[in-house]
Amino acid sequence: MIKEITKLKEEISGSLGNVADMESLDSFKLKYLVKKGSIQALFDRMKEVPKEDKPLIGKELNLLRKFAQDKFNSLSEKFKRAEESTPDIDLTLPGRAGYIGSRHPVLQVLDDMVNVFTSMGFDVAEGPDIEDDHHNFDALNFPPDHPARDMQDTFFVKSDNGLLLRTHTSPVQIRVMQSQKPPIRSIMPGRVYRNEAINSRSLAEFHQVEGLYVDKKVSFAELKGTMMIFACKMYGNDIDFRFRPSFFPFTEPSAELDISCFLCGGGGCRVCKKTGWLEIAGCGMVHPNVLGGCDIDPERYSGFAFGFGIERVTMLRTGIDDIRLLYENDVRVLEQL
Ligand code: DAH
Repeated sequence: MIKEITKLKEEISGSLGNVADMESLDSFKLKYLVKKGSIQALFDRMKEVPKEDKPLIGKELNLLRKFAQDKFNSLSEKFKRAEESTPDIDLTLPGRAGYIGSRHPVLQVLDDMVNVFTSMGFDVAEGPDIEDDHHNFDALNFPPDHPARDMQDTFFVKSDNGLLLRTHTSPVQIRVMQSQKPPIRSIMPGRVYRNEAINSRSLAEFHQVEGLYVDKKVSFAELKGTMMIFACKMYGNDIDFRFRPSFFPFTEPSAELDISCFLCGGGGCRVCKKTGWLEIAGCGMVHPNVLGGCDIDPERYSGFAFGFGIERVTMLRTGIDDIRLLYENDVRVLEQL
């Protein structure tokens, strides 16, 4: 009997090596630990054992049962813990990339413009979206009935109190000159509003970057140089320039800056409307009336100013020919910009 007990213990020890999960542990239990299992079968044979041997054999059998039961308990614990900590997902599946947003193309262009101008020594100033008539028009040398006021259709906040949504960022020039004395070198980005019909080229709300440089002996040559450096940094060194005479009440002389179309190299394409040139900014020498109105002596100081439309620069950079695409926030469009 002792021999058989030892044999069964060896068998049990050996079979433990094959128990790798709950399922095989269940078979182990069925084979050895249940009422019809092999251990109980040996207990059932106790009646055959001579009386004097019973205590020893009984003890050995109890030890065997305890051995198997202990092994069963600890393995069962182990498998339960492993089951709980295994998440119900397939860890071998490749991960799904998260959707990452990006800065809006108009803001990307604005960031680049700000970087170019700050690298040339300009600081960044801001002014209010709701302006008064004085800053938006009068102080910029628009006389009350000057036809130039018609160039911009204005949203008035209330027609009798002179408050309006600024039609350009030029009034920030006035605010900067009223609060600082030369030398002044500032750019002024911001949102502007015009009561215009919405179509592929214009919106009622868009963005501009204004620039102002006032100091002693500031010349048109410096304006040209600044504009050219800006354009090369934004569009590459291969572009050509052209300054066309223009008119703005707040600058004299005034000009419009064209650059050669960087998409077709000047040969003519859809974006430059076959002209080979792209209009990118208005600019000029600050009018003496504007300087004087801000208590800056036009005899001692001169300055230049410029204004860019940010959406326009963005459209030229991305080759988009409908400005509305920039504001519909269609992810399929934004992902490409
Ligand atoms: N304010 C002008 C506009 O909205 C743009 C502009 C032109 C700004 C010439 C300037 C400038 O500072 O010198 O059309």
